[in-house]
This record gives sequence, C-alpha cells and structure tokens, in this order.
Amino acid sequence: MAKSMPKKKPAEPIIRVRDVTVQFGATKVLDSLDLDVQRGEILGFVGPSGAGKSVLTRTIIGLVPKISGSIEVFGVDLDKANARERRSVERRWGILFQQGALFSSLTVRQNIQFPVREYLKLSQRLLDEITIAKLAMVGLRPEVADRMPSELSGGMIKRVALARALALDPELVFLDEPTSGLDPIGAGEFDELVRTLQRTLGLTVFMVTHDLDSLHTACDRIAVLGDGKIIAAGSMDEMKASRHPWLRQYFHGKRARAVAGA
Ligand SMILES: Nc1ncnc2c1ncn2[C@@H]1O[C@H](COP(=O)(O)OP(=O)(O)OP(=O)(O)O)[C@@H](O)[C@H]1O
Ligand SMILES: [Mg+2]
Repeated sequence: MAKSMPKKKPAEPIIRVRDVTVQFGATKVLDSLDLDVQRGEILGFVGPSGAGKSVLTRTIIGLVPKISGSIEVFGVDLDKANARERRSVERRWGILFQQGALFSSLTVRQNIQFPVREYLKLSQRLLDEITIAKLAMVGLRPEVADRMPSELSGGMIKRVALARALALDPELVFLDEPTSGLDPIGAGEFDELVRTLQRTLGLTVFMVTHDLDSLHTACDRIAVLGDGKIIAAGSMDEMKASRHPWLRQYFHGKRARAVAGA
C-alpha cells in the first residue's frame, strides 16, 4: 500500500548559494555565505549599507566573480553550464538594478524591448504588443512607451524598470532597492504591485530593500546580511524576536521608521 503512494519531493530552492566568498582586493565582502531562496516566495534581503547586498545579487546573476563556493539557479550550476544552458537560465530571470534602472538614451519602449530582442526573434508588432501589455501590468498607460526616461517621475521609472524585468515572463525577479527614493504612498503601491504579480504569475522575488514597510507588507521571509554572512533568516516575527544587536536596532530602533526607504 505504502509502496504505491506517490512520494512528495522536497521543495527545491530556486536559488542555492553555498560557501560563496567574494573579495575585492584585500577586502572580503562575502565570506562563505549560504542562502536558499524557495520557489514562489518574496525574500526580503536587508543589511547595513555597504554590506554586500548588491554584490551578492550581482554574483548570483554572474556579473561579479566569486573566489570560491557554488551557486545554483533553477538547479543549474552556472559555473558548470555551457553558453546555451546559461542563456536558457538567464532567459528565465528578470532584473531591476539599484543603479541605472533604465538606459537613459532609449525610449521606454526600447528599454522594455531590450531583453526580449536579446533572447527572442519576434516581429516588431509582437514586440509592441508585449510592451503595451507589460506597461499595463505595472499600471502605466500605453502613451508612456514613447517617452524618454528623463520625462518620467522616479516612481514611473521604477515601474518601467519592473516592466522591463518582466518582459520575458520570468519565473524569478531580482529587485535591488525597488522602492528607494519613492514617497511612502508610491512605495506602498509598488509593494502591492509586486505582491499581486507574485500571486498571479507565481513569481519568486529576491528583493533587496531598506524599506521596513516593504518587509512588513510584501515579504514572506527576510534574510539579513552582516559581516559577509547571513546572520539571520526567517519571518518578520522571528526578526523582531532576535537578540542580535543590528537586528534589534533595525527592527526596534526609534529611527527605524524614519529612515525606511532612505
Ligand atoms: N566592483 C567593485 N569593485 C570593488 N569594490 C566593490 C565593487 N562592487 C562593490 N564593491 C564594494 O563592496 C562593498 C559592498 O557593496 P554593495 O554595493 O554590495 O553594498 P550594499 O549592501 O548593496 O549597500 P547599499 O545598501 O548602500 O546599496 C562596498 O564596500 C563596495 O564598495
Ligand atoms: Mg546595494
């Protein structure tokens, strides 16, 4: 009887980081770091400024070399993958960078179409349809497509950058400080948008943020980076209960809410 029961496979992490060390000159930024991101979750990634959050993000996607350790995304070790395998993994993720969220010399339309052109050969008509659909997905009107980034507000830039990250219908998105610089209402709307997209599209989201409100409302789980390692990972309640000095100051400090989003 038991023999015929289908075996439930244990959940495979969508990102598996093991023993990763990254060093610039003599400075070790990441030191034997381990981290799992589970399929379908929104992981909020926090830590002091300069701790290495953006570096880890860029290491996972292969833009920063590591001196040791391994990283698997979708079960593929990117160091061992050939060019074709790498491309097929890259095609399944989208990225919103902390700096230079959009190419300033390209229109919104060209920005959104950029990753699509890189991976797929589609007609201009289809590319334009994708552009309008992605703009709608992030709550922007079709007319925005012909504007330049300099003609957009900060909040619109973040939305367009999200539309570009979603252009290839990814399963996984990396968002590096997506709400920084937005007012609390704009940031709240952005968090809600990310939450809705995660629910409706089944996205997995790796979100670097300083925004305490984002951590409360948008994230399923939080991981904290300090001294090159993950010093804590778990629910908001677990973070608040931690006795670690940085976590206590961050999650309970008087200025915690005032600096959120800074
Ligand atoms: N390409 C590079 N070459 C040399 N040092 C670098 C490079 N990229 C990042 N660093 C250094 O690595 C450290 C971590 O930087 P990182 O940008 O990851 O911080 P962060 O945690 O994202 O900070 P913030 O919250 O301010 O965005 C910093 O000291 C930074 O100066
Ligand atoms: Mg950063």
